[in-house]
Amino acid sequence: MVNVADLLGLPCLDTDLERVEVALQREAATEDPFLAEVTTHLIAAGGKRLRPLLTLAAAASSEKEATEEVLLGSVAVELVHIASLYHDDVMDEAEHRRQVLSVNARWGNLVAVVAGDFLLARAAGIAASLGTEVASLLAATLGRMCEGQVAEVHAAFDAERPEPSYLNAIAGKTASLMACSCRIGALTSGLDGYARDALTEFGEALGMVFQIRDDILDVVASDEELGKEAGQDLVKGIYTLPVLRALADPEAGPELRSILGRPLGDADRALARSVIAGSGAIAEATAEARRWADRAHGAASALPPSPAGEALARLPHALLDTLAVPTL
Ligand code: IPE
Ligand code: IPE
Ligand code: MG
Ligand code: MG
Repeated sequence: MVNVADLLGLPCLDTDLERVEVALQREAATEDPFLAEVTTHLIAAGGKRLRPLLTLAAAASSEKEATEEVLLGSVAVELVHIASLYHDDVMDEAEHRRQVLSVNARWGNLVAVVAGDFLLARAAGIAASLGTEVASLLAATLGRMCEGQVAEVHAAFDAERPEPSYLNAIAGKTASLMACSCRIGALTSGLDGYARDALTEFGEALGMVFQIRDDILDVVASDEELGKEAGQDLVKGIYTLPVLRALADPEAGPELRSILGRPLGDADRALARSVIAGSGAIAEATAEARRWADRAHGAASALPPSPAGEALARLPHALLDTLAVPTL
């Protein structure tokens, strides 16, 4: 698993991140021992903590120490992220997440949905304590995430899915929360409107890089590397950028089209993955991710100079470099 703190290379964030861990446990806790076990399940399992790191790094670009507000903002975005994983794993019928059993696999869909709602409620409470602007930003972001997830489900098993349908769905389900994470860092650290907008644009473009990378990994990585089932998008009919590019390929396209369009068994999943991986689609999707990385880099480069701003500007390409795949 990629280590985002190492990619950022900002040792000043280490103690802040430790404080975030303590606060995450506290905010997800409840007096009901069963619900508490469910709500803290994925927190304990780990994860990259990318979104809280974005909040912390965005705030650190103000060159001020992280306040309690900044820390709480970063806890809120991770809680939203974890809740979205609870709900996403129900939608995808996923059995593993963060190298452990998913909440739905362990306790069933009903518990997973309600525990996800509980975490969202905690995030909303924190956001309200940070003021109207943060609260309304978080609410708008949750709306965009739902729109993205529903758009994705709506396009399931459609081998003619247009690329803009894919890009819109991932902007909603993933990029919106990264944009929100960066903007909350800017808001809680008192950065001006120019820096807020630059950081928001950065987070949105970084989110596109991140989801395209995740979608490439679904095709080329193993279950062990991911800590979740690889090839799950193909099985569930979620045709992502590498799949759409392979479908458009004159050589790989017809063979792939004959496999897709319906739920896949293990043999067809393996075949579809090898057809996509053997085409130019992975390199093409990586090139598209690189274009978003260039945009993210450009947005962060517009910030006033600071070590945190420079670390953020390097992050999109550093993240892409962790994909050991051929480039165009
Ligand atoms: C998984 O996000 C969901 C996507 C947006 C692809 P992460 O890959 O950041 O998951 P964790 O937090 O490290 O588990
Ligand atoms: C999940 O996208 C995005 C959200 C959780 C909102 P994916 O379905 O690609 O995430 P993984 O692959 O299950 O982590
Ligand atoms: Mg999923
Ligand atoms: Mg995925």
